[in-house]
Amino acid sequence: MNGKRYPEQLKDLPTPFYLYDMDLLRATLERATREAERYGYRVHYALKANFHPRILTEMKRYGLGADCVSGNEVRAAIEAGISPQDIVFAGVAKSDDEIRYALEQDIFSFNCESLEELEVIDALAERAGRKARIALRLNPDVDPMTHKYISTGKADNKFGIPYGEAEEAIRQTARLRRLEIVGLHFHVGSQIRDFSVFEALSRKVNRLQKWFDGLGVRLSHINVGGGLGIDYDDPVSEPIPDFEGYFRTFHRNLELRPGQTLHFELGRSLVAQCGELLTRVLFTKTTAGGKRIALVDAGMTDLIRPALYQARHRIENLTANDTEKRMCYTVAGPVCESSDVFAHDLELPETRRGDLLTILSAGAYGRSMSSNYNLREMTREIFSDEF
Ligand code: LLP
Repeated sequence: MNGKRYPEQLKDLPTPFYLYDMDLLRATLERATREAERYGYRVHYALKANFHPRILTEMKRYGLGADCVSGNEVRAAIEAGISPQDIVFAGVAKSDDEIRYALEQDIFSFNCESLEELEVIDALAERAGRKARIALRLNPDVDPMTHKYISTGKADNKFGIPYGEAEEAIRQTARLRRLEIVGLHFHVGSQIRDFSVFEALSRKVNRLQKWFDGLGVRLSHINVGGGLGIDYDDPVSEPIPDFEGYFRTFHRNLELRPGQTLHFELGRSLVAQCGELLTRVLFTKTTAGGKRIALVDAGMTDLIRPALYQARHRIENLTANDTEKRMCYTVAGPVCESSDVFAHDLELPETRRGDLLTILSAGAYGRSMSSNYNLREMTREIFSDEF
């Protein structure tokens, strides 16, 4: 068991629902901002991980900026009180409407992902009578050594401007009168636990910066994206990721120019461990092959990570007594898809209809990736300080 004490009222609430531990969220933000401030680094919260207004309000309270990938995310950040001056707008394919909206808001920077996008932003800025600050998102061809669906910085991914086109991008930006190049942007992938990946990224950035020096281009900021991973196997021992080691890795390896600031776009590491998905067992049965299945009322529509990335989340039975004999279960959801399975061969105490289970480390890319496929209800969200 994870050792947490859950409020008594929880067991009477209709399931499934996300439960967020606001104390843990605040402790995580406290640690992350303290470690970043040590080096004067700026952190933008990647809204895609979780955009509930209450979560965004906490981000604002801790002074974080926002990393947005759609016009609606830019709007949500602004509505949460985050200043447009602290908002970066990434996104591999921004629509004209989204670009127009972000121009109106005069956001800090557009992270641009292709030469064509530079032309389009310039033209829209011209029409709006504005100037756009941009950072070139370069594809550094660094292998993040993570799941292929969440790897973004390899040469053949759809993201970023190819490394080899950097010079052309600079020349083009200089030609476009409504664009002001203020930075370089990178993001190699997500759920990265091996810090040597960030060392490799830092070395690539250093090489590029030397080359930019040679061209006489001055950049006020470097943005190295997000990607810091969390411990899905043992969230109890590591509820707060190693922000200290993470920022130190960049401090030791990435050479900034005088006056230049280093920016980050962290999503998962800030919110994943503070959220869990509570679900009730509806039925149990055993297949012809002898597999025991616990069917729960949460499905891939509530948390798609296991179905999409074969991700493993720790699951616990909050009702069964820990002393009961342990058995192997497949934990599956109600959705009409064979991939709607949260865990295979999972050891749990004997589990029965009505038992409450919790799926841990679900605060990031949980509710934000949910859907109403099968016309299911969107998952409710509950906050620990509401009790
Ligand atoms: N910046 C950019 C440009 C990104 O593409 C991402 C994530 C982030 C920042 C934030 O990365 P983080 O710090 O959260 O690793 N749905 C997947 C993860 C997709 C990540 C997409 N990009 C999952 O559930 O594992």
